[in-house]
Amino acid sequence: MSRSPSIPDRPHRDIDPDLPDDERLEALRGHYEDLVDVNEQLSEQLDEAEQRRQRLRERADRIERENETLKSSSLYIATVEDILENEEVVVKQHGNNQEVLTDVSPRIVDRVEPGDRVAVNDSFAIQSVLSAETDARAQSMEITERPEVTYADIGGIDEQVREVREAVEQPLSEPELFDEVGIEPPSGVLLHGPPGTGKTMLAKAVAHETDATFIKMAGSELVRKFIGEGSRLVRDLFEMAREREPAIIFIDEIDAIATRRSESKTSGDAEVQRTMMQLLSEMDGFEARGEIRIIAATNRFDMLDRAILRPGRFDRLIEVPEPDRDGREQILQIHTRGMNVADDVDFGDLADDTGGYSGAEIESLATEAGMFAIRNDRDEVQHQDFVDALEKIEEDDSSDVISSAGYFYQ
Ligand SMILES: Nc1ncnc2c1ncn2[C@@H]1O[C@H](COP(=O)(O)OP(=O)(O)OP(=O)(O)O)[C@@H](O)[C@H]1O
Ligand SMILES: [Mg+2]
Repeated sequence: MSRSPSIPDRPHRDIDPDLPDDERLEALRGHYEDLVDVNEQLSEQLDEAEQRRQRLRERADRIERENETLKSSSLYIATVEDILENEEVVVKQHGNNQEVLTDVSPRIVDRVEPGDRVAVNDSFAIQSVLSAETDARAQSMEITERPEVTYADIGGIDEQVREVREAVEQPLSEPELFDEVGIEPPSGVLLHGPPGTGKTMLAKAVAHETDATFIKMAGSELVRKFIGEGSRLVRDLFEMAREREPAIIFIDEIDAIATRRSESKTSGDAEVQRTMMQLLSEMDGFEARGEIRIIAATNRFDMLDRAILRPGRFDRLIEVPEPDRDGREQILQIHTRGMNVADDVDFGDLADDTGGYSGAEIESLATEAGMFAIRNDRDEVQHQDFVDALEKIEEDDSSDVISSAGYFYQ
């Protein structure tokens, strides 16, 4: 942006009224000439401003037109393979890997480099250059070298922990067992159950135990606006895992890309379908005894497309239920480990009173009880604090209709 030029000072002259007429006339003439000068400068500036305005208006028009075309047509994602002379570019479309030779508008040609991700329209003309791929990868994946969560942090689902260890941990830590017996370990493990029951924790704990990199991607992140982008992210996900073996790939909310085919055949659905096919083909071409394990999670098991549950895919289903009474007691104990708890606290009693609570809800109960202790100026949490916390949570719940109606796991 060019800065606006400074406005010249208004000429000023003190003319002594007692001067003889001719000298006053001379002074006035000088003043008049100054004014003419300034006037000229100002009209030049005005012209320039007018031109600038014109240019800005043209630019605004162009951006608006571009915006219109972007809005009106769907764009495809492609990677720039090569830039030839005379502003021609070879791009490879994501999704179908088709290579095409295409023109670039002069406006964009300086900004593309081989390897860039670009959006192309139906006739393959490059519309815009997308942000660097590494950013997209980093944005949508959560990568932890070795998560902190351990099995000891998980309460009430011992059977599920055992199953996960068998299906995920053993193939990583003792692959020879499977070799000797001559069986393939499960390809993928699907954890399903209501929210807040420890599914994510379980996946992290296995990564911790096996000293594996934990790579998490949410299914909702894979549902992308651009055609080809979701499947590209799936490929990136597996590539990332291969770079960081041993690794646990955790796909949360897998229902987002694997719900049963709906009636509507919009392009959005087709894109989601393609993303899922990419995931399945990555899993199919996978060395089951390798150093990468796949875990997915959902709380919409009823909605899942059965195709992902076939042998060789998510062929080990583990239901993670809400904790039972003993489970709740264990989870209470886990979440109060670091708290200063009075001797009068009866966890068994509290477990009786928390029927239907998930692990996550029990965690917030413990925190809430701590808040009551603080409010009462105590550094020790007593049984009554838990009772008060329970009452408060119950009150909050009954005024919050959505929290009970929005619960759809069956
Ligand atoms: N079984 C459990 N033992 C101990 N803590 C638990 C348990 N389940 C849940 N929690 C607590 O609740 C929090 C949320 O749990 P987590 O993220 O594993 O739930 P989730 O099953 O993945 O839920 P969602 O389906 O909503 O993703 C945990 O960080 C933990 O503090
Ligand atoms: Mg989770």
